[in-house]
Amino acid sequence: MSQRALPSILVVEDDLDLRQTIVASLESNGFAAAQAADAADAIERLRSFAYDGLVVDLRLPDADGMTVLDEALDRYPEIRAVVMTGFGGVAEAVAAIKRGAVDFLIKPFQLSQLSRVLHAGLEQQRLREENAELKAQLKGKFRFENIIGRHSTMQALFTTLELVSPMNSTVLIHGETGTGKELIARTIHHNSPRANERFVGFNAAAIPETLAEAELFGHVKGAFTGAVNSRAGRFELAHRGTLFIDEVASMSLPLQAKLLRALQEREIERVGESRPMRLDIRVIAATNTDLRKLVKEGTFREDLFYRLNVIPVTLPALRQRREDVPLLAQYFVRKSCTDNNVPVKTVTQEALRALMAYDWPGNIRQFENAIEHAVAMAATKAEIGPETLPDDVRERAGSMLVPTVAIPDEGLNFTSLVSQLERELILRCLEKTGGNKRQAARLLNLSRTTFIDKLHRLNLERGAA
Ligand SMILES: Nc1ncnc2c1ncn2[C@@H]1O[C@H](COP(=O)(O)OP(=O)(O)OP(=O)(O)O)[C@@H](O)[C@H]1O
Ligand SMILES: [Mg+2]
Repeated sequence: MSQRALPSILVVEDDLDLRQTIVASLESNGFAAAQAADAADAIERLRSFAYDGLVVDLRLPDADGMTVLDEALDRYPEIRAVVMTGFGGVAEAVAAIKRGAVDFLIKPFQLSQLSRVLHAGLEQQRLREENAELKAQLKGKFRFENIIGRHSTMQALFTTLELVSPMNSTVLIHGETGTGKELIARTIHHNSPRANERFVGFNAAAIPETLAEAELFGHVKGAFTGAVNSRAGRFELAHRGTLFIDEVASMSLPLQAKLLRALQEREIERVGESRPMRLDIRVIAATNTDLRKLVKEGTFREDLFYRLNVIPVTLPALRQRREDVPLLAQYFVRKSCTDNNVPVKTVTQEALRALMAYDWPGNIRQFENAIEHAVAMAATKAEIGPETLPDDVRERAGSMLVPTVAIPDEGLNFTSLVSQLERELILRCLEKTGGNKRQAARLLNLSRTTFIDKLHRLNLERGAA
């Protein structure tokens, strides 16, 4: 795992000597420091860069330091701000804390104290932010081992993931609903050098078009009706980390143009302002529709498509990798039983057959839900039988035997497979009738002679009475 980038601090102080001493001290204590001598310069810098911290003298030549503090907190509510004031400025310092500064220092102060205060403030913020992601990481949720699949399409996917995760390349994930697009995106992030930075999601289909631009790029106060405060957009929040643009096909053409520009220039502008901010971001996009088709139809920009499609990753539908069903069943049964504090159950062959026969339009998400349903329905039983499965899964399964057969690239032997099916059906009917041929033939709606004939051909006479 990589080191985080150095936290960036803006030092605002008019006294040249003091300013340079502070900057030198911060730099030798693990910070990247920028400096401004007055409020105007400080505000200018704050508008074009998202600093992690601010150190500001409350008395500046051109304005009150409080205006710098306000501008900083307004734009970046999370910024760690420390104010400096002379002897006698305690009341002002307290006012600054009330506005959102994390601490104040009375001049003269020890430089080590400043570093300590900033480190503590940033650490606290970082811990809070990373708590959720860390919990997920501790559970190992985003390790490759937790992406289940042995099918050749999944093996190829793992190879691709190992290659692209460490890089900065844009990835375009294509797959039907529930095939694991977000899981893959997060896994790439957590296995990249950006793992310690943020993974920020933006779902283009979930946000009304009128708000999407401001959500993505942020806005300044008063940029539009309702913009009472300035706000950072998803792009800014993802600075140094990964931005996941979900359902990218739902973006309007004007927004696509803005996204393209941001990706090309590596710069964005908040809505209501024309001051570019440079950002360092890795983009992962996802779609469940075929973007090439949308390009042909004219609803998706071709240039944006090529910008996003640097590394294309296609996730197979579950019905295209039915061979993975037993493995997935085992994985999710274990997960569900463990989550519910019950002993891990086994899945009967008959239930597995039904799970393999079903088409899973909702893919892994639907599959996981079906298993949870089955685990709950099985209650105290040690086995998960077909009767515990959701109705639609069970119903389709009866009439859908053939899909349980995997069709390998080299083809299969039709005659032997059909014989196998005949043999299985006959044996199951004989089992059910206690070996009675007449009753078994009736169950299969076959004449007795045809039935006997088949027994001969399939070498099954010994099983029948
Ligand atoms: N290969 C896999 N192995 C284990 N779990 C998986 C796998 N693929 C997906 N999942 C799980 O299935 C659920 C759905 O996955 P995810 O949300 O990533 O799908 P999606 O493609 O983003 O779906 P949608 O298009 O509906 O947003 C999640 O709980 C995820 O952890
Ligand atoms: Mg998703």
